[in-house]
Amino acid sequence: MAGPVEVGAFAAGRIAEVVSAKPEAVLGVATGSSPLETYRALAARRDAGLDLTRVSAFALDEYVGIAHDHPESYHAVVHREVVEPLGLDASRVRVPDGLADDLDAACEDYEAQIAAAGGVDLQLLGIGANGHIGFNEPTSSLSSRTRVKTLAPRTREDNARFFDSPDDVPMHCLTQGLGTILDARRALLVAQGASKAAAVAAIVEGPVSSMWPGSVLQLHRHATLVIDEAAASELR
Ligand code: F6R
Repeated sequence: MAGPVEVGAFAAGRIAEVVSAKPEAVLGVATGSSPLETYRALAARRDAGLDLTRVSAFALDEYVGIAHDHPESYHAVVHREVVEPLGLDASRVRVPDGLADDLDAACEDYEAQIAAAGGVDLQLLGIGANGHIGFNEPTSSLSSRTRVKTLAPRTREDNARFFDSPDDVPMHCLTQGLGTILDARRALLVAQGASKAAAVAAIVEGPVSSMWPGSVLQLHRHATLVIDEAAASELR
């Protein structure tokens, strides 16, 4: 039965194809549990000779108001789970600045940095149980750009496992918008486990709707979902 390891191996293969064809590829990277097996499998490919040193990367999102060296800030998570194991050049890796004095300006600047890099070649995504991608919570505009969002109560509950107390989970984040994600040349969403089954069914078989933000991928020309059997269990 296909599980998280198979999902990670398949997704890493797709990323490796993109990087082999274009060693200076721009990757969009997700945090959270879903992509961990993908990063593990990609690190194994790196050990086997895949050169990732010229890759650039843009994180999807960041919490507002937690220090960059806090272990659960996405600055720290991206460094620990992506930059180090994959041997990326840290100077080519960007994470939105959730500590900026002017958060709106930081979001605009992030969009400008993605554009200056030539856009994202492949955007890796996870999905929230409520259907969010990035931190585009339900009701997000389908054409949204990088901006400040309030985290949904369900997302704060789901992410409480990473913090000492549920109250420590930030209320706000910066996230690439759904329009930003749609601009990536390829989108690759990984989902594992029964807790994602309802969201997977809604975004694949339901209508395109801001109530299930991941459904926007139906509008993407080159979107791939890699899911295990448990995450597929509510597909008809
Ligand atoms: C993370 C992100 C989120 C997560 C989603 C699933 O950068 O943008 O959309 O992908 O919340 O999280 P996990 O994988 O921890 O279940």
